[in-house]
Amino acid sequence: MTRKLIILTDPGQDQAAAILMILGRRDAFDVLGLVATAGNIHLDHTINNCLKLMELAGRPDIPVFAGCPHPIIRPLVMAEHVHGPTGLDGPDLPPPSIKAEDKHGVDFIIDTIRAHPGEITICSLSPLTNLAMALRKAPDIAGEIVEIVAMLGAYFEVGNITPSAEFNCYVDPEAADIVLKSGIKTALLPLDVTHKMLSTPERLQAMRALGNRNGIATAEMLEFSEAFDLKKYGWEGAPLHGPCVPAFMLAPEIFVGRQINVSVELQGSLTAGMTVADWWQITDRPRNAFYVRDGDPVAYYDLLISALGNLP
Ligand code: BDR
Repeated sequence: MTRKLIILTDPGQDQAAAILMILGRRDAFDVLGLVATAGNIHLDHTINNCLKLMELAGRPDIPVFAGCPHPIIRPLVMAEHVHGPTGLDGPDLPPPSIKAEDKHGVDFIIDTIRAHPGEITICSLSPLTNLAMALRKAPDIAGEIVEIVAMLGAYFEVGNITPSAEFNCYVDPEAADIVLKSGIKTALLPLDVTHKMLSTPERLQAMRALGNRNGIATAEMLEFSEAFDLKKYGWEGAPLHGPCVPAFMLAPEIFVGRQINVSVELQGSLTAGMTVADWWQITDRPRNAFYVRDGDPVAYYDLLISALGNLP
């Protein structure tokens, strides 16, 4: 039984790895479309990066939609310092020959969920702007989404774009707040788990050793983006965020988490975008998310590398 997915993304090398991992598992996932988000870099680049990835994976048939060019309220904060000026620096991928669809990404989300009620999982690798806008425009879709599985947030590991906030939440905290209050079943893969999934030299070498163009390109992408994190953290490898989302869908048993309340700080001058996770259930706030805190990196990289091996 395959899961029907809509992917929200602003690739980003770690998200490219996640998307390629998903496309390498046609037995598990049926991707109905990608919505390019403004985040790591401007929307023009994230659209282009999505198109390049569809061609790299040999899946030019999967439609790519442009979402909103800005967060709901705030000015766009980007992460060029990590991902490079195109957002997907590293391998020399050819300019795409395919184009994005004319339909807006928000309308694609709404129309697809209405066309497949009770069948769609939202796989969110990016800020949640476009899903939040879809929920505002068409509140009826909330009851028809199977689940949201999102790379977002941080609590025990604190922040990566400010001392208190994780990037995807910080870019559009109002969107995260809307989604976390929507009542939709949600699983969060925060920095608390992604920081345990380190891309060591041995793991990157195993990707290269696959010998296919997708394995080699993924290793080249991650070698580019990890430079910033290796310097920052001084660890033996960089955290690999995005693939935690498909890995959680494929093998939830390799992760550890709890159903708790997660609330987003919208006001704090030092803490805007922080995900306040009630891990010890101190409050009686509704338990709105399965918050993942730990995972098995060996099983994680096995899943990722074997999926990449299924691609051209
Ligand atoms: C998230 O921030 C982005 O820069 C990465 O692509 C990932 O989605 C990690 O905080």
